Amino acid sequence: MIHYTIEGGRPLSGTVSISGAKNAALAIIPAAVLVRGTYRLDNVPNVHDVCILIDLLRAMGVTVKKINNNCYEFNSDSADCCNVPYELARRIRASYYLVGACLGRFGKADVAMPGGCDFGVRPIDQHLKGFQALGATCDVRGGAIIAECAGQLTGSTVYLDNASVGATINIMLAAALAEGTTVIEAAGKEPHIVDLANFLNFCGAEIRGAGTDVIKIHGKKELYARDYAIIPDQIEAGTYMAAAAATGGEITLLNVIPKHLECISVKLLEMGVEIEEGDDTLTVRRDGETPLTATSIKTMPYPGFPTDMHPQMGALLTIAEGTSMIAERVWENRFRYVNELRRMGADVKIDGRVAVIEGVKRLSGAPVQACDLRAGAAAVIAGLAAWGTTTVTDVFQIERGYEDLVGKLQALGANIQRAEEPEEPTLTVVTA
Ligand code: UD1
Repeated sequence: MIHYTIEGGRPLSGTVSISGAKNAALAIIPAAVLVRGTYRLDNVPNVHDVCILIDLLRAMGVTVKKINNNCYEFNSDSADCCNVPYELARRIRASYYLVGACLGRFGKADVAMPGGCDFGVRPIDQHLKGFQALGATCDVRGGAIIAECAGQLTGSTVYLDNASVGATINIMLAAALAEGTTVIEAAGKEPHIVDLANFLNFCGAEIRGAGTDVIKIHGKKELYARDYAIIPDQIEAGTYMAAAAATGGEITLLNVIPKHLECISVKLLEMGVEIEEGDDTLTVRRDGETPLTATSIKTMPYPGFPTDMHPQMGALLTIAEGTSMIAERVWENRFRYVNELRRMGADVKIDGRVAVIEGVKRLSGAPVQACDLRAGAAAVIAGLAAWGTTTVTDVFQIERGYEDLVGKLQALGANIQRAEEPEEPTLTVVTA
């Protein structure tokens, strides 16, 4: 059992380099199944979810060579779609991208239903609808998604009921090698969707319109190996921005795309935080004496405010003067961070899908749990801003998606330690 101990109240200062985007890596790595030859993927974040996905590809016969912590070499020429280990696939959300990739390359897929954060119901009907539109039959049997098509997938038009990020990515993966043209209407527009399209296009695919509501994919016979580097992580950057604002410090983020952060910057500016944009840097500054002001946030698909930044902003707003509101429009179960922050003295009420936050002067350190990935990040931000000691447990949730959070925060002057608790001794009952 690993936990973090934080002595709060120190302003963050200095520079922090942002890692590659987890959600882009989770979309681009499965695309290895579609590409012929050997290529390198750089700026891969060193986080648990990515490591599990790489283990899955290896088990499918993809050769994956680790060049360094953030660079891997892939060759899938001898990959075998039939072996996607159930126990690994069910641990992460992104394993379901192997359905699209395997259908595209082999015409069949058998992948365990995915895991990932518990945000309530996480349906996959839009993914299946997309595969079916391309001519596949789909079934969920024995805890697995089983998809198959006689012959080759054939391009078609898919109208998504909502701009699902996962369904957009999965349909793009399936359609890249399909015969003819696939059109995704009401597509997701997130930066990692664009990054996947850029990678596939670089390898010879013909995908137009990624980043808009309509994506057109003209299927190609083969995709060829090309080296590529993943974009920086919008949510990791946003988390450090919120942490700097919460502690009243000044930090500069390196290796970011400021455009991707505008939705977050706008909210911080409203709260009285100073932001300075460079070409690929962003400086966040707040004088600790100046109080943060309350604001309202509504989460939405990109370019709206990202749901994956909701808990971190929730933590920040607990110490902003006045009444703030966060309306959650994507996940019904995003509010698991709230109970943990209440232990630290936060005043938050939940009304349906809205959090109403009355700012308090200070939070006080407490033992809290990382209930999911971003809830864990919120607990860390609260701990950095609080008086006294905070212990965050279940930090495996955090390490699923943040590369070296503790090391990066320590380099910014935070007093945060990572420690492993010894296992409880097992009680052996001896019966006569
Ligand atoms: C991805 C991200 C996750 C982020 C989310 C929204 C990854 C690995 N995860 O998740 O961190 O919080 O985007 O930005 O990239 N929906 C359906 N049917 C479907 C699919 C989705 O109704 O078939 C609904 C969901 O219930 C949800 C909404 O659509 O309300 C958005 O889901 P989606 O964009 O698909 O999220 P994920 O791709 O699972």
